[in-house]
Amino acid sequence: MKTIEQIHAEALAALETASDIETLKELKTAYLGRKGAITGYLKTIAQLPPKERPLAGKKANAVKKELDAVIKSVLQKIQDTLAAQTDTPDVSLPGRPVARGALHPITQVNREICAIFSKLGFDVVEGPEVETDYYNFEALNIPRNHPARDMQDTFYVSSDIVLRTHTSPTQPRVMEKQEPPVRIIAPGKVFRCDSDLTHTPMFHQVEGLLVDKKVSFGDLKGVLTTFVHQMFDEDTSLRFRPSFFPFTEPSAEVDIRCVMCRGTGCRVCSHTGWLEVLGSGMVHPAVFENVGYDPDKYTGFAFGMGVERIAMLKFGINDIRKFFENDLRFLSQF
Ligand code: DAH
Repeated sequence: MKTIEQIHAEALAALETASDIETLKELKTAYLGRKGAITGYLKTIAQLPPKERPLAGKKANAVKKELDAVIKSVLQKIQDTLAAQTDTPDVSLPGRPVARGALHPITQVNREICAIFSKLGFDVVEGPEVETDYYNFEALNIPRNHPARDMQDTFYVSSDIVLRTHTSPTQPRVMEKQEPPVRIIAPGKVFRCDSDLTHTPMFHQVEGLLVDKKVSFGDLKGVLTTFVHQMFDEDTSLRFRPSFFPFTEPSAEVDIRCVMCRGTGCRVCSHTGWLEVLGSGMVHPAVFENVGYDPDKYTGFAFGMGVERIAMLKFGINDIRKFFENDLRFLSQF
């Protein structure tokens, strides 16, 4: 026969480890049930000498009462834990990561270009993407049927309306509205019927225009050199190569030292050591006449660059189409 003390100690130890309602119920039956240990013990009291019975009975009832209370409190604890698991957030759990968006690499580079020229005092303006033949071509000294129109494969909306093929039409648009000095850049989308590894039917350009008295080619070189040094780095040298654009005279194509091989020659620069980054020149007197500026009084320079081209060189990307495929594995690298 176990003593009441033994039963008491055993019961408390078992209750201490009980962590679910099922186990707790079993323990309650095992100790306090009709065939339980305490009930069994109470029945044996009758066999004790009469003197010992009252004390033994008192002890057993006290143990019964205590166990009953302990069972109730353990039950409460188990129920509290369950409720906490289902109702309230566990603030100690690690948080779920929030997916962070980012600016498209073209937007990033576009903003960087605008920021550099803004610091040099250029205002940022925008022109329409659907443009008239006049501003896209004629005002820029590209007459109808002139072979220079072949340089740009044009999407025609109607015979007089086009999707602008470059951002240059913002030049006459701005000059028509104000007198010199003019100092603007014009970022935006442009469209050409062209598609391969380095061309997409829609891409981005940033146009630049500065008009004032006594503006020289030296000013053009200074501004563009500062731009290249800030966009790439101070060690990137530039080369101004004679070229032709109908709206500038003289015209120059600007190359930079290859950012990949630093000029020793590689696949990116076709083993020339140089990369073409933009077109530029001194504003043609015919353009000034078209907008009502006196070409004897004012001179100016203009330039236009492709944002995708700059971004590809800056980030070392060799396929322009990557920018427009919306593949997060590509985009999330920037
Ligand atoms: N509009 C020319 C193009 O898209 C780029 C260009 C060249 C812009 C010379 C200019 C410039 O302003 O002076 O090919």
